[in-house]
Amino acid sequence: MKILSGIQPSGQLHIGNYFGMMKSMISHMENSELYVFIVDLHAMTSVHDRERLSKGTLEAAADFLALGLDPEKCTFWVQSDVPEVCELSWVLSTLTPMGLLERCHSYKDKVAKGIASNHALFAYPVLMAADILLYQAEQVPVGRDQKQHLEVARDLAQKFNNEYGETFVIPEPAISQETAVVPGLDGQKMSKSYGNTIPIFLEGKPLKKRVMAIETDATPVEEPKDPEKCNLFNIFKLFATPERVREVHSLYVNGGAAYGYIKLELLDLLNDFFGQARQKKKEYMTDPQMLREILARGGVKAREKAAPTLDLVRDRVGLKY
Ligand code: ADP
Ligand code: TRP
Repeated sequence: MKILSGIQPSGQLHIGNYFGMMKSMISHMENSELYVFIVDLHAMTSVHDRERLSKGTLEAAADFLALGLDPEKCTFWVQSDVPEVCELSWVLSTLTPMGLLERCHSYKDKVAKGIASNHALFAYPVLMAADILLYQAEQVPVGRDQKQHLEVARDLAQKFNNEYGETFVIPEPAISQETAVVPGLDGQKMSKSYGNTIPIFLEGKPLKKRVMAIETDATPVEEPKDPEKCNLFNIFKLFATPERVREVHSLYVNGGAAYGYIKLELLDLLNDFFGQARQKKKEYMTDPQMLREILARGGVKAREKAAPTLDLVRDRVGLKY
């Protein structure tokens, strides 16, 4: 099975990214043909700062490696190192109705939040479709927010196949039910752009401050509360053992759940869960040259995999003369 997913290097990666996408990608390393990449061209739709983009790319690479991704067991690269993706994106855009992109929630949400609308932001799903189709990916693990973008990729693959003959595999989204949407500190979807995250690699006081800032209601300790509606509980259950989750669940239902104590317990759980990865990330960040070499090797591997698809596409549409 060919499994592929990408992540933007546009800010500190957070536990929503981890449970929504990174964890499942890393777990597929042993049993699948795995493609993992850092989508710097996509990040350019919102990051126009040279330093931030280039540093963010190296940092996202260090994050993945520190969390256990083994570049020998997958293809791990930076999107812009395979320029073929831009050519495929252009070809696909000639089959993309304006209305298909106008319906995309992600574009509408970003514009509503005040992000300047530009052509790349509008065409974002077409480049994402090219990312997926270029490698003939069968499965794409993502959080629920990316479902519609996957539908665009499927639509474009089908359209191309109908017009020019069987060329692309139709990709399937893989969205895990329990972690489809990890809530942020304020209960909305955790997202870099909402400033409500718990970054994976935050430590010490700044991490404690974030955990203590998880919003909870004002119900007194002894009163029953609904755990499913509490974002603290919903974050806690991602880290605690099933037994401890059951115990805390029953404190919510029967009374006795003290938010302050649960937050401190969550802080310990976070430190245990990511402790080793944090250490490894520090090691990777001391050697950016090594990171660049790992990514460059991945880029060569990815280009080799992309070449036959693009060759076929060029032939199908008449770019070979
Ligand atoms: P952000 O919203 O923080 O900018 P991205 O859009 O870069 O995150 O998402 C990267 C990956 O992480 C995608 O697969 C996305 O679906 C997943 N993801 C992001 N936030 C969450 C969340 N709160 N819960 C589950 N998955 C998430
Ligand atoms: N749009 C995705 C996000 O913001 C990132 C992405 C770009 C992606 N290309 C992809 C994800 C291809 C999966 C497959 O999270």
